[in-house]
Amino acid sequence: MPGRNAVGLDIGTSGVRAAELSYGRDGITLEKFGQVALPEGAVRDGEVIDQAVVVDALKALWKGSGFREKRVALGVANQRVVVRQLDLPWMTRSELKVSLPLQVQEFLPMAVEDAVLDFHVTEELQGPEGRQLRGLLVAAAKDTVMSNVTAVQAAGLRVTSVDLTSFAVLRGTGRPHSDVGTEALLDIGARVSNLVIHSGGVPRFVRVLLSGGQDVTDAIAERLGVPAALAEAVKRGTDEQLTPEERELATSALQLMREVFVDEVRSSLDYYGASNPQFPVERILVSGGGSLLDGIAPHLQQVTRKPVDTGDVLGRVRLGRTGLDEDQLAAIQPLAAVPVGLALGVIS
Ligand SMILES: Nc1ncnc2c1ncn2[C@@H]1O[C@H](COP(=O)(O)OP(=O)(O)OP(=O)(O)O)[C@@H](O)[C@H]1O
Ligand SMILES: [Mg+2]
Repeated sequence: MPGRNAVGLDIGTSGVRAAELSYGRDGITLEKFGQVALPEGAVRDGEVIDQAVVVDALKALWKGSGFREKRVALGVANQRVVVRQLDLPWMTRSELKVSLPLQVQEFLPMAVEDAVLDFHVTEELQGPEGRQLRGLLVAAAKDTVMSNVTAVQAAGLRVTSVDLTSFAVLRGTGRPHSDVGTEALLDIGARVSNLVIHSGGVPRFVRVLLSGGQDVTDAIAERLGVPAALAEAVKRGTDEQLTPEERELATSALQLMREVFVDEVRSSLDYYGASNPQFPVERILVSGGGSLLDGIAPHLQQVTRKPVDTGDVLGRVRLGRTGLDEDQLAAIQPLAAVPVGLALGVIS
C-alpha cells in the first residue's frame, strides 16, 4: 500500500507512546516516535482510570511530537483479556466472523455480548471430526477496552483498530521466518507484561502477566521507606546517596522481585512446554522498559536455560527523519516494540 501512513498507540502505566510508520516502495519507515509520561494511577493494569490526565497526555503527545495523522491502532492488555487455544470446525473466514460469538460462550468468563472477540487461525487440521481450524481465541471485556477508546477519542483521535498488545509485540520483535523455530517474546512493562510464543510469526501461546518493573520499585520503596520516585532512581542505579545498609536492602528487594517475576515467566513457559512438546521454545527475546532492570536477562537465561536476547524492533524498519539521535534511538528501542508493532498491524 504505497504512500500509506499508520500510527500505533500504546497506553501504558508509565506513559503514552505513539509511532508513525509509512509504507512505501522501499519498505517501511519509522517517521515519528513520541512519548509523554503519565503520573502514577492514571492507568492501572492496562485500563485508563483518570480520563482527564490521559487525554491531556495524548494531546501533548500529538502536539509535541508533531503527529498529523489522527487515526490510530490502539493496543489492549489487561487482566480481563482471555487468550486460549481452541479448535473449531472448518469454515470460511467470513463465516467465522459471524459465528464466532455463537461458538465461544462456554470458553469465556464473561457474557459474549460484553466481550470484544477475535480468532487468530494458526493451523488447519484434519481431526477425527473432519476439517478443523486451530487458533487463538482472544476476548477482551468491552468496558475495559471502551474506557481506553473513549480517552483516545476525547483527545480528538480516531481509533480504527484495537489489537491485543501481545500481537503487537509479536509483530514488533518476533522473527517472521519459520527457519528460526519457536521463540518466546517477553515485553516487560511497569504493571503489565506480555508473553507470546510463536513459530515464524504464528502465535502459539499468549499470556498477559500482571507484573513488571513497578513491583520492583514498590518493593524498594517499602523496604527503604522512601517515596516511589526515589525508589525508582535507586532501582535504575541513578541515585548514589544510599548508605551501605540501605544499598544492601535495596539490592535484596530488587533481587527478590526479579526472582519472583522470572519464576512467573518460567511457570508460563513450563505450562506451554507441557502442552506443546512438538514446538519447544528455542530462545527468548525481551523488550519493554522493565527489560532494562539490572540483571534480568542473565537471570532469565539461567533459570530457563534458553538464550535471552534483546528484541530489535528498530532493526525491522527504515529510520526516517525522526529527529532522534543515536542515543535517543537506543533509549526508545525497548519502548518502541508495542507502538511500532501496532502500526505494523494496520497493513498486515
Ligand atoms: N533503566 C531502567 N532500569 C530499570 N528499570 C527501568 C529502566 N527504565 C525503565 N524501567 C522500568 O520499566 C518499567 C516501564 O516499562 P514500560 O515503559 O515498558 O511500561 P508501560 O508500558 O508504561 O507500562 P505497562 O505496560 O505495565 O502498562 C517501569 O517499571 C520502569 O521502572
Ligand atoms: Mg507496556
